[in-house]
Amino acid sequence: MAAKRLAEAAALVLILRLVYKRLQDSEARRVQRFHKRFGPPKHGCFVVTGASSGIGLALATELSQTYGYDIIVIARREPLLSRLASELPTNVIPLACDLQTAFRDEAGVLDFRKRLEGALPAGKALAGCLHMAGNSDLAVHGLTDKTAARNLEMLDLNCRATLGVLQAVVPLLAHHVMRTDYRAVAVTPGALTAFVPSAPTFATSAANKNYIRALTLSLRYEYESDGIDFVCACPVAVRSEILDNADGGSGIERLVYIPTGLEWAQGVLADLSLGLPETNGRYMDYMTAWMTFGWGWTTRYFFQGRVQSNSVLLNRPVRLEPLREKLAGVYRQATPRPED
Ligand SMILES: NC(=O)c1ccc[n+]([C@@H]2O[C@H](COP(=O)([O-])OP(=O)(O)OC[C@H]3O[C@@H](n4cnc5c(N)ncnc54)[C@H](OP(=O)(O)O)[C@@H]3O)[C@@H](O)[C@H]2O)c1
Repeated sequence: MAAKRLAEAAALVLILRLVYKRLQDSEARRVQRFHKRFGPPKHGCFVVTGASSGIGLALATELSQTYGYDIIVIARREPLLSRLASELPTNVIPLACDLQTAFRDEAGVLDFRKRLEGALPAGKALAGCLHMAGNSDLAVHGLTDKTAARNLEMLDLNCRATLGVLQAVVPLLAHHVMRTDYRAVAVTPGALTAFVPSAPTFATSAANKNYIRALTLSLRYEYESDGIDFVCACPVAVRSEILDNADGGSGIERLVYIPTGLEWAQGVLADLSLGLPETNGRYMDYMTAWMTFGWGWTTRYFFQGRVQSNSVLLNRPVRLEPLREKLAGVYRQATPRPED
């Protein structure tokens, strides 16, 4: 009897706690928490890279519309950035830049920092950098199915540019902390592949995103006491043009809800205000837990299977035959085997 009463009391406490937490998580509370951590819009502004489309665009929109910040938006397609500037309610400063080639050497980092400093609205410091520009190729079977140039370009955008952007912004974020006594934040573009040591058929993505996540989490501890949060944002899957019909699958795939960019961005910003080290935008957290703690053969099997479903989804056929057959055209003349 006593045990039953205890169990009922525990269940009640749990339910009340859940309700309390839910009430605390209203949009108004999220905004209040965010402003309390990173300072109100009158003190600081944000920079968002990859803001011309996808999740960068969603984060920029949410920061302006809901959180009221001025933002500097970066991508290559200037017309899209200008259109965004004309649509959002706060001061939006477009800064067209190719991040893949911007950081060839130290001068590139210094130049990028100077451009950012020059773009800051008068009287405001840089409270945060949401670096979202990047890519992870879908539906490519093997390393050699992509051109070497494509793999090298991915490395430059995902790894080199992430390092370059962080090197450029840290002093600006530190200035915001010194000036206002609020914290600052730097967010980097991870992915589900950042959680596994090996993801066959997603080799370049896994290697690039592991680099980004390790860099970000290491910097987090280097700069925690200096008032700068480093956060790795790791979308599992976010709805975009190419992923629009991805949750129309069968069986277990029906259980997967793919959020819109806006839904995902709302979850990310709510997590930033809580000071978390990484965020999946509050969608499909179980997937990252599986990648981290699951059996290696199951996660490898997932990626190998994924490449085939992505190929159907994107209507981009993948070649699944062994390398020997793929190279048959290249080495047309059978070369004699060396003597034993
Ligand atoms: N969506 C997902 O489901 C998902 C899942 C896992 C990881 N991610 C990661 O999230 C990030 C953004 O993904 P997304 O889905 O939003 O992709 P997206 O819609 O293709 O957006 C990519 C953004 O990066 C910008 N960009 C690309 N190359 C650039 C360059 N050289 N210089 C400057 N900006 C550049 C693009 O703008 P311009 O073309 O105008 O330059 C665009 O704004 C990527 O790092 C991706 O790997 C996304």
